[in-house]
Amino acid sequence: MIRTERAGDEVAIRAVETAAFGIDRDAQIVDDLRGSDAYIPELSLVAEDGGAVVGHVIVSRGHVEPSGEPIFLLGPIGVVPERQGEGIGSTLVDAALAGARRLGAPCVALVGDPAYYERFGFLQAEPLGLLPPAGWRSRPFQVALLDPEGELPRGRVEYSNAFRD
Ligand SMILES: CC(C)(COP(=O)(O)OP(=O)(O)OC[C@H]1O[C@@H](n2cnc3c(N)ncnc32)[C@H](O)[C@@H]1OP(=O)(O)O)[C@@H](O)C(=O)NCCC(=O)NCCS
Repeated sequence: MIRTERAGDEVAIRAVETAAFGIDRDAQIVDDLRGSDAYIPELSLVAEDGGAVVGHVIVSRGHVEPSGEPIFLLGPIGVVPERQGEGIGSTLVDAALAGARRLGAPCVALVGDPAYYERFGFLQAEPLGLLPPAGWRSRPFQVALLDPEGELPRGRVEYSNAFRD
């Protein structure tokens, strides 16, 4: 079952993200996002099974320079290691994209492995004029268009300070 995060999920989400990545950096990003204006409560989603949180994804708000236009950014996403490969991550990505579309977002961007994300319609962002934050060039930056009529923002994406090391 996929549902939005609710009060009391924080510890379970932290455990899921830490287990998925093997370090707590991504869990810390999620915690820091919650207290920031980049947080979109409808788009912090958990996968629950038998009352346990087994996966989590968050979409946060960034902006594009120089226009300042807002942009939705997916990640971190994590599934507990013992439940990976069962389709939970895909269900979370689909739900996150559907939620972003419901909120009127024209696109969602992310940093991640194209081998995983191309199945959801993510495309290389740079050839489309959407650049990753400065210094992130070595990591594949991708974007999914949610509205075929919509126009993709062009420029350099800035993430929330929650993503800064
Ligand atoms: C990435 C992640 C969220 C996917 O969740 P999941 O529930 O395992 O994914 P699904 O079961 O929906 O999909 C599994 C498929 O994704 C592929 N896959 C998983 N991680 C991948 C990766 N990093 N690169 C490429 N393919 C990947 C699997 O090989 C499998 O492929 P198949 O469908 O062709 O067999 C999960 O593996 C995870 O938490 N990984 C550790 C944290 C992480 O790397 N997060 C993403 C950072 S961009």
